[in-house]
Amino acid sequence: MEVQDLPIGIMDSGLGGLSVLREAVRLMPQENFIYYGDSANTPYGTRAVEEIRELTENCVRYLIGRGVKEIIIACNTATSAAAAYLREKYADIPIIGIEPAMKPAVLKHPGGNILITGTEVTLREQKFRDQLKIYEKQANINLQPLGGIVGFVEQGKADSPELEEYLRETLSPWAERGLDALVLGCTHFPFVKEQIRRIVGPRTEILDGAEGTVREAMRQLMKREWLCVAARKGSVEICQSGSDEAWILRAEQMQGCEERDVF
Ligand code: DGL
Repeated sequence: MEVQDLPIGIMDSGLGGLSVLREAVRLMPQENFIYYGDSANTPYGTRAVEEIRELTENCVRYLIGRGVKEIIIACNTATSAAAAYLREKYADIPIIGIEPAMKPAVLKHPGGNILITGTEVTLREQKFRDQLKIYEKQANINLQPLGGIVGFVEQGKADSPELEEYLRETLSPWAERGLDALVLGCTHFPFVKEQIRRIVGPRTEILDGAEGTVREAMRQLMKREWLCVAARKGSVEICQSGSDEAWILRAEQMQGCEERDVF
């Protein structure tokens, strides 16, 4: 089999990376995808960095074992803890990691009020701090950990009053000050974008890193001439480390798999 025909692997601690898979399917409809959610170990955002690195490596090894041509780490937390280490260790395969969309937010709103959200780990790690040093002179950047969202999304409770209360408590003070942009720096957050929108109002631009990450994944494939050029509709396979069947059903629903071939 030609490398071009091999699938692309996408991993996350759970369901969040489906927001990246969705974008990958939109931009590369001809590709086959294997999505791996580490449902047995979610959430990552409350764990020690060494542990996240080890868990992420297990996911990467699983995907390599499945014969993927490229891996997208669709988890900001895993990227900050493990991407550099994994790229060095598995140098034969392109590994792309999602990061909070700080740069596009600042470029679109120079001098504006920008709120960057993510898990505690993402906002604390060196990778993020280095980026912040570059952009904090160009806008008024504030940080807000919102790791509590992850559990709600994993349990299919994105519409619960408890989540609404959590979002109100954490985001209302920022909304009152007026936000030009809010960055969803965790791949679980796009699944509660509408709930966030209700709190911050219509004039705040809400950005996430999915499209930028997928475009980078495409560039890496094109550079190697590994992009699939066949005129076909690709497939999506969703796998997990846990054994909860309901998780898979939720994942398929969230990804909109009914339009595609799911094995
Ligand atoms: N979806 C992940 C991210 O983008 C993290 C969720 C978790 O805490 O496991 O950061």
